[in-house]
Amino acid sequence: MELIVLDSENLLSYLGKILKIELLSFKTPWSLSAYIEQMELPFSHIWCFGEDQEVYSYCLFVTVLDELHLLKIATHPLMRRRGMASILMKEMLSYCLSNDINRIDLEVRFSNKEAIMFYEKHGFLRVGIRKGYYTKPKEDALLMTLFLNEKDVLNFDRIKRVKEG
Ligand SMILES: CC(C)(COP(=O)(O)OP(=O)(O)OC[C@H]1O[C@@H](n2cnc3c(N)ncnc32)[C@H](O)[C@@H]1OP(=O)(O)O)[C@@H](O)C(=O)NCCC(=O)NCCS
Repeated sequence: MELIVLDSENLLSYLGKILKIELLSFKTPWSLSAYIEQMELPFSHIWCFGEDQEVYSYCLFVTVLDELHLLKIATHPLMRRRGMASILMKEMLSYCLSNDINRIDLEVRFSNKEAIMFYEKHGFLRVGIRKGYYTKPKEDALLMTLFLNEKDVLNFDRIKRVKEG
C-alpha cells in the first residue's frame, strides 16, 4: 500500500477510481467536472491510498495561509475500519507540521456519526454549527477543527467556558 499524490500528470487516470468511491460514500457526490474544476484552483490537493493502481481511500483538501480545509475524505465501503483514512489523516498532519499550518477545519453532516467519531478520534473539536448547510436532504453542518498549536486549543477552551457561562 502506498500514498499517491495526484498532480496534473496522473489526475485523470485516478479520478475515475475516486469517483466510484465518491458515489458509494456521499449523499450528494461530486461529478468529474467538479473535481477537475476544484483541482484547477491553486492550493488544491488530492491524495489517495492504495496499491497496484487501485484506490481504497482518498482525501481532497485546500490550504489557505495557515489553515487546511478538508473537503473530502472517504474509504471504499468494503475497506473501511482498516485504518486507511487514518493513514491519510496522519499524512495531512505531517504536511501541516512541515508547512506551518496551524489548524484543520471541516464541515460534516450532523447525522454522519461514523465520520464524527473518526474526526474525534483524531482530536478534532466541535466548534460550531452551520444551519441548513447541506441539501438533499437538507441538514445542518457540524463544524470541526483540529488545532495544531497549544495556544489555539487554550484560547478555544477559554472562549467556550465564557460562552457556557
Ligand atoms: C469516515 C471514513 C472516511 C472513515 O474511514 P476508515 O478508513 O474506515 O477509517 P479508519 O479505519 O481509519 O477509522 C479510524 C477510527 O475512526 C472511527 N470510526 C470509523 N468508522 C467508524 C464507524 N463506522 N463506527 C464507529 N467509529 C468509526 C473509529 O474510532 C476508528 O478506529 P477503530 O477502527 O480503531 O475503532 C469512512 O467511514 C467513510 O468513507 N465514510 C463515508 C464518507 C464520509 O462520510 N466522509 C466524511 C465526510 S465529512
